[in-house]
Amino acid sequence: MAFTYFFRDLATLNAIKEHVIPELRKHKYMNVWDAGCAMGPEPHSLAIIFKENLGYYEFKRLKIYATDLDEESHEFGKIIAEGIYPEESVKRIPGEIFAKYFSPNNKPGHFKIADEIIQCVSFQKHDLRTLESIWDNSGLIVCKNVLLHLQESERIDVIKMFHKSLAPGGFLATEQTQKMPGRTAYLFRQVTPKVQLFQKV
Ligand SMILES: C[S@@+](CC[C@H](N)C(=O)[O-])C[C@H]1O[C@@H](n2cnc3c(N)ncnc32)[C@H](O)[C@@H]1O
Repeated sequence: MAFTYFFRDLATLNAIKEHVIPELRKHKYMNVWDAGCAMGPEPHSLAIIFKENLGYYEFKRLKIYATDLDEESHEFGKIIAEGIYPEESVKRIPGEIFAKYFSPNNKPGHFKIADEIIQCVSFQKHDLRTLESIWDNSGLIVCKNVLLHLQESERIDVIKMFHKSLAPGGFLATEQTQKMPGRTAYLFRQVTPKVQLFQKV
């Protein structure tokens, strides 16, 4: 199983806080698609960043759709809904955030995320290679450390599908090493040179 952990990419989370949340909060619904979410640390980290930067009622308008192949049937949906994670995956979370949103679990060496965070994330199985969007009008799509598994031509088709699926002015975040292919660059503007965060044009 691909190892992943909470707050894996702080620079991108900070860029989402600075550039994406102020735009999305202007809308009635805030829909985020986390494509290739593995067992959930990434969508839950996103939910925490939104929670930290939104008001109480605003946060209720946030929905995070987390998808993955879950090829080996590790039951990502069950893990994400339970929100219980081993110490190894939570140890890079900033101290004050950890204290606020995590509590020790009966299972030794495991911690449970606060229910308010778990409740805004829902999982469904989905293969990006189908080129079918799970949800149109997303304000933000996060797809990190996934596109590298695809062939160049598949990657371009997936990015085009993301572009179509995004709401006008919506955002796409990929990992630092995943540069925007030349053939899809005209579809987006890079929001900041610091990270791979793009806005639909
Ligand atoms: C390295 S993990 C990345 C997890 C998380 N996004 C992160 O950056 O921490 C890659 C994930 O992509 C998923 N994946 C690979 N190919 C995929 C596809 N065609 N459609 C959906 N998910 C895929 C894998 O199952 C795996 O969980």
